[in-house]
Amino acid sequence: MTQDELKQAVAQAAADYVAANAPEGSIIGVGTGSTANFFIDALAPLKARYKGAVASSEATRKRLEGHGIPVFDLNDVAEIPVYVDGADEIDAGLNMIKGGGGALTREKIVAAVARTFVCICDASKLVDVMGTFPLPVEVIPMARAHVARELAKLGGTPLLREGFVTDNGNLILDVRGLSIIDPKGLEARINQITGVVTNGLFAVRPADVLLLGTAEGVRTIA
Ligand code: 5RP
Repeated sequence: MTQDELKQAVAQAAADYVAANAPEGSIIGVGTGSTANFFIDALAPLKARYKGAVASSEATRKRLEGHGIPVFDLNDVAEIPVYVDGADEIDAGLNMIKGGGGALTREKIVAAVARTFVCICDASKLVDVMGTFPLPVEVIPMARAHVARELAKLGGTPLLREGFVTDNGNLILDVRGLSIIDPKGLEARINQITGVVTNGLFAVRPADVLLLGTAEGVRTIA
């Protein structure tokens, strides 16, 4: 199976999960990235079942609307039964690195509201220790150099994501060289640096369910 076929299989499994677990008429949280895009496509045939969706990025909002799925402002939504999103790395505790697509802050906000976070990944994303994938950190532009110096003190090598501005008008520093043995501690530590909006560690609020695409089929890990 190709990587895209694995992504498609987990996306379909996620659409089935949502159909079985989210009440009719509810609003679904939808993530960002190529795997999330397959999920949006799998959700579309069932759109009459749901009131609509909350999008974790402008790209996702456009794709949802392209399928005729109403997109709600999170401020107008009190409950999200299920949020479905991909990850760049995930460990056995369902802690994740996210933000390869630069949508980490909105993803973290939607995840904070959601009752259940379903992560959808192909098997290449499951790792023993996170940190091979550079950790994205969203920063306020005027704090870029200060935050980079502070991240270097933590042992990482931050690199500005060239030519990229987030949906929130900020910059991304991608931090290489971190071996993340305490994901929750590091997430909190980096978020304390003045000028950081948030970082791509999802450990304080990890996933609740992982649908993992493997050559043998979709594994559910919870
Ligand atoms: C975007 C993300 C994505 O979920 C992550 O980058 C995985 O993307 P893909 O499904 O394309 O591999 O966090 O900010």
